Amino acid sequence: MNHQDPHGLDAFCCSGSSPTLSLLGLGKVGRAFVALPDLQDWRLCSVSDRSGTLCDQKGLDGPHISAAKIVGRSVAAQGGGGPREPDLALSLIEAEYVVDCTDTHLDSCDESLARSLAILDRGQCLVSAAKSALLADPQAFLVGDRLARYGFNAVLGGTGLDLKRELTVIQQGCTEIVAVPNACTGSLIQSIEEGLDRDAAFALARERELLEADPEQDIDARDAAIKITMVANLVYGTRVDWRELERPHFNELDLDLLTWRREQGKTTRLVCRADREGVRLAYEELDLGSTLAIPWTRVLYGYHECGSSRRIMVGKGVGAEGTARALFADLNDIRQGREKA
Ligand SMILES: NC(=O)c1ccc[n+]([C@@H]2O[C@H](COP(=O)([O-])OP(=O)(O)OC[C@H]3O[C@@H](n4cnc5c(N)ncnc54)[C@H](OP(=O)(O)O)[C@@H]3O)[C@@H](O)[C@H]2O)c1
Repeated sequence: MNHQDPHGLDAFCCSGSSPTLSLLGLGKVGRAFVALPDLQDWRLCSVSDRSGTLCDQKGLDGPHISAAKIVGRSVAAQGGGGPREPDLALSLIEAEYVVDCTDTHLDSCDESLARSLAILDRGQCLVSAAKSALLADPQAFLVGDRLARYGFNAVLGGTGLDLKRELTVIQQGCTEIVAVPNACTGSLIQSIEEGLDRDAAFALARERELLEADPEQDIDARDAAIKITMVANLVYGTRVDWRELERPHFNELDLDLLTWRREQGKTTRLVCRADREGVRLAYEELDLGSTLAIPWTRVLYGYHECGSSRRIMVGKGVGAEGTARALFADLNDIRQGREKA
């Protein structure tokens, strides 16, 4: 550690009136987040990637850091003298808000959960795009006042904030959850329906930044299985394991059937359904006018109650920029809640 470095640990103590922020992860979503113009009212005190942590008590220049990372300059290469260990960096910086844009590692969900709970239990607020922690144990976020300081809007494509606000009512009355949670397969299907071949459809989904770092997570329906499991476990208090679900693979879809359906005024979506008995995923044929036939730019979560009542939540938190905006909505919501309290 270089104690002369303005971005080193000497600069770890933030001061001033704007709320202070630490960012974990400077990939597609993290870069889009720090480049948001709306962040001007916040003080970005630290940014971490795997190489280290860059920090400044006066506030970092997010768009500049993002642009440098795009051309291949890691945080360490930009002068980040802070720890490579994110837990240590966060506990030293002690920003009021932490934004987690690290990648979703399905084999280290417990680690991610422990880090998230440590952040919350230090009294910091946490908004996350990464699914791992919520997947490990959604009920852990309902303990004490954690939920008031935790945001998962981005995890559910920009619908997590609505779910959080209505969670208690939904937990009491929800009989079925229906979701179209995966924008990537929506984009692939729409492209095929428009006449693109498989490779061109994948290239377009990649260009739209819809594919996970591991694209298999989208096409083998893991991403959708994870999201519906997480929501079902949160709403019903169940402990469904997504690994035990039957998952339809995109590669097993008959692409001619997709285009034929479209010619018949129908379409296809990866639809997830959950109730207290279990969780099911399938590529369903839908009328074009169906509520579930959403464009790829949206995700949908519906919470059905006894009788005909249902809450439909449609989110625009798709792709890196949409996800960054969903994170920002969470931040503002938590901030407003704290200012009111
Ligand atoms: N892309 C989307 O449209 C989208 C939509 C919704 C949700 N999400 C979720 O949002 C998260 C971020 O997505 P992404 O597309 O931005 O992923 P990404 O491009 O793979 O970026 C992940 C970032 O996390 C950093 N990182 C990983 N482990 C870290 C650690 N221990 N400490 C500090 N930094 C660490 C990586 O550092 P290096 O740069 O050094 O490798 C990288 O900068 C994922 O969990 C994803 O599931 C993404």
